[in-house]
Amino acid sequence: MRAVVLISGRGSNLQALLAAQRGGELGVKIVGVISSRDDAPGLRRAAAAGCRVAVVDATRYPGRAAFDAALSEQIDAWQADLVLLAGFLRIFTDDFVIRYQNRMLNIHPSLLPALRGLHTHRRAIAEGHTEHGCSVHAVTPELDGGPVILQARVAVRAEDDEQTLAERVLRQEHRIYPHVVRWFADGRLQLNPDSVILDGKPLARPLQVRAGDPLPD
Ligand code: GAR
Repeated sequence: MRAVVLISGRGSNLQALLAAQRGGELGVKIVGVISSRDDAPGLRRAAAAGCRVAVVDATRYPGRAAFDAALSEQIDAWQADLVLLAGFLRIFTDDFVIRYQNRMLNIHPSLLPALRGLHTHRRAIAEGHTEHGCSVHAVTPELDGGPVILQARVAVRAEDDEQTLAERVLRQEHRIYPHVVRWFADGRLQLNPDSVILDGKPLARPLQVRAGDPLPD
């Protein structure tokens, strides 16, 4: 199975996926990395891992439809069975999402449906959340709104600031994202527009782990 990873920045989730691939735990081959920015540090991580890279520079397209068309062209040229969003900070057209809906996953730094959008760690602290975390979900046209598959819960500490909380959440992102990819690779996970099927059964609610607990089989 062939996966393409889409990034816009640092690429630490990409790195976690590449590490899982190297360890034989991912079940898919990352055949290319696409960045929406030519200065994304994640591009260096991809190149260092010997991965093909492409930049589809969002600033060079007149609008979302043109950008998404260029993105699709690259994804399809690499014959991706799976599209992995890993800190890809662009909003897609509905047409793009529908085209890849049954084979596109995202990692988001909150316990969805709480805290969609940006600055989730800052908002979790400002709003007095006692728990925060991250979610791997199927992508649907509704922003950060697709069915959630696996979440990791992280306690918010009194002394946390945005950065300390983000670091603890990020460590969990790096655990749960490759794990869900493996389920997809093994044919255990099917993505539908309004539900996800795991081991033949619709997931009534997301699976959850606490930081430090073992991941579900
Ligand atoms: C990650 O925290 C990811 O969950 C978040 O961007 C960061 C990218 O970090 N994604 C979103 O906020 C998407 N809505 P990375 O480039 O080091 O993987």
